[in-house]
Amino acid sequence: MAAERSAQVLIASNRGPVAHSFTDGGALLARRGGGGLVSGLSALGPEAGAVWTCAALGDADREAAGRAGPRLDPQDTGGQAVRMLDIPAEVLDDAYAGVANSVLWFVHHLLYQTPLEPAFGADFARQWEAYETYNATFAEALAQEAAEGAAVLVQDYHLTLVPALLRERRPDLRIGHFSHTPWAPPDYYRLLPDDTATAVLRGILGADRAAFLTRRWAAAFAACCAEVLGAEVTPSPDAPDPSNPSDAPEDVFRIRHAGRTTRIGVHGLGADGEFLRERAHRADVTDRLSRLRAEIGGDERRTIVRVDRTELSKNIVRGLEAYRCLLTEWPEWRGRVVHLALAYPSRQDLTVYRDYTAEVGRVAERINADFGTPDWTPVVLHVQDDFARSLAAYRLADVALVNPIRDGMNLVAKEVPVVSDAGCALVLSREAGAHVELAGDALTVNPYDVRATARALHEGLVMGPEVRTARTERLAAAATALPPSEWFLAQLRALGG
Ligand code: G6P
Repeated sequence: MAAERSAQVLIASNRGPVAHSFTDGGALLARRGGGGLVSGLSALGPEAGAVWTCAALGDADREAAGRAGPRLDPQDTGGQAVRMLDIPAEVLDDAYAGVANSVLWFVHHLLYQTPLEPAFGADFARQWEAYETYNATFAEALAQEAAEGAAVLVQDYHLTLVPALLRERRPDLRIGHFSHTPWAPPDYYRLLPDDTATAVLRGILGADRAAFLTRRWAAAFAACCAEVLGAEVTPSPDAPDPSNPSDAPEDVFRIRHAGRTTRIGVHGLGADGEFLRERAHRADVTDRLSRLRAEIGGDERRTIVRVDRTELSKNIVRGLEAYRCLLTEWPEWRGRVVHLALAYPSRQDLTVYRDYTAEVGRVAERINADFGTPDWTPVVLHVQDDFARSLAAYRLADVALVNPIRDGMNLVAKEVPVVSDAGCALVLSREAGAHVELAGDALTVNPYDVRATARALHEGLVMGPEVRTARTERLAAAATALPPSEWFLAQLRALGG
């Protein structure tokens, strides 16, 4: 049994730093999770004694969690103390797929087609109850493990109720919440049933400090608190108070509600430059690079690259339509450019995601049928998740297309300039959080404006090599200014840890 109330720093997130699967022979295999969240949150290293609580997300995770007792085998986690909660599959499904991915994600990314959706009926009532149970399970586990006065960093829209539930159980703790998504503006947020809208805000306000990736998302959260809860929002004093070490300069607002004050902060998240540069020159990436070059065909051909999960918010279909528009309105590019689209399936247990993945495939095929020639395939689409291939694509891109409808940050926009071999023009949606830091050297687009996106692709393709190289260097510097480790440590400092 893990020591009760012994952890000084705790992290809580739905997806943890390790995922399990079964081998063909039925043995359990542990794999380290990827992405900015994992590398950022791992920054303290196992020696700091942080305990990471996450959910078992499938049968293999469940078996590993069941076998391990309160903590996973440290050999499988690089020494990180991980507690994987075995939440019943029906509860997890309703909370994660039902509420978090199908409702909260949709609201914050403005994904509903409102004449038909959302319609909150009996199914939602059941799912919401599961979401409460799932959040309470996390709060209970954290309350058991946290030492007196410990810092707890709760992550994302899956766990919005945890801060308030944890505070009820353990008022001594310092609690932070971080949102990795955008936050919806009040009119859109109010699509949620009133009690849900209220519960989510009150849940997060249970934290001492709630933080966001950009000031825009923080301001939207504050506006929702003012409109939905009638909370009092005041700007934070600009300069930190030197007599109060926990008064971090990244604080932007204070929100007063129900007798408590919650500080609202902003922490951008950058690319891990050192790791990416080293990783992008390993043999597996070089090997993928030659294969991609062969698929593109011809050294003179230019390449427009995108790398995404097939996520509705990534706007892949409009990106393909913009490419079609480029070939139509600037026919000189026919045969001289290839759109390399790496679109890795995500959340395929949800019908709407499966349909979207299929639509991406259909649109790509139609472009190839309409424009392709025996020696030119206009769109090369890969759907098999492969990190080495993504890095190879970053290296050879002439233009990177990052056009999300909305995105909390978007790390692809930050990773491409860091890894690019010969400089890359970045076509970037103004609705991505990363746009705040990269706008000066990117080609900004409105993600709904297909024709303007086509024009930006053309501008990227004709950008002279000196301009492109200079812009890429500045983009890479901006992209790595906030390394993931600093992002995590800054949050901890801001909580007074
Ligand atoms: C993206 C978002 C995160 C979110 C994660 C969940 O990375 O930026 O905010 O936590 O997706 O993805 P999952 O595959 O766990 O549903």
